[in-house]
Amino acid sequence: MTDIAELRTERLVLRPWRTSDRALFAALNADPVVMEHFIAPLNRAESDALADRIEADLAAHGWGLWAAEVPGRFEFIGFIGLAVPGFEAPFTPCVEVGWRLCQSAWGHGYAPEGAAEALRFAFDELELDEVVSFTSVGNAKSRRVMEKVGMTRDPNDDFDHPRVAPGHRITRHVLYRIQKDR
Ligand SMILES: CC(C)(COP(=O)(O)OP(=O)(O)OC[C@H]1O[C@@H](n2cnc3c(N)ncnc32)[C@H](O)[C@@H]1OP(=O)(O)O)[C@@H](O)C(=O)NCCC(=O)NCCS
Repeated sequence: MTDIAELRTERLVLRPWRTSDRALFAALNADPVVMEHFIAPLNRAESDALADRIEADLAAHGWGLWAAEVPGRFEFIGFIGLAVPGFEAPFTPCVEVGWRLCQSAWGHGYAPEGAAEALRFAFDELELDEVVSFTSVGNAKSRRVMEKVGMTRDPNDDFDHPRVAPGHRITRHVLYRIQKDR
């Protein structure tokens, strides 16, 4: 067990998860609009199992997919942070930056604000040379966040996600990268 880092930005706190986050997390995971670019929304048990995995990774590393809070406004809006993909691809092993926020929090720039701080942590504290991010080709909102934090895509890195069935609407993925010196 390692102490879990807590990160702060102008408007956000990226913190360890609380038990009270789980109901809100289940609600956003059950929202078909939030989950449009995933295989399917999650039910409560699936959402809790995901929260278990996220919390276990945070406890093991001291960093990960933090619970995102907007102090004084929203106690929990979703997760923003870092993760190690569990599948094999030409760009793994690697660390990715990712996010998933409830719809009511969209459009305020919270994801890029938190992601920029997660990247700072990855480069300054973890001393990584590169961080990646990936999503299905059609996920324009998420791709926009990647661009806002300075990540770039090489179409030669596009890939079929190995955990999605061939030919599924979200199989094809884009990969964005950012290096320490950018
Ligand atoms: C991707 C996501 C985190 C964006 O977070 P955010 O804090 O709203 O980010 P921003 O406010 O910077 O908005 C990013 C883009 O999303 C789009 N967007 C924002 N709010 C929107 C809304 N209410 N409706 C439709 N599109 C919206 C815009 O294209 C925006 O780009 P712009 O600022 O240039 O107009 C959020 O949409 C989300 O959680 N999506 C579902 C989960 C997901 O796909 N996660 C990534 C998987 S890899």
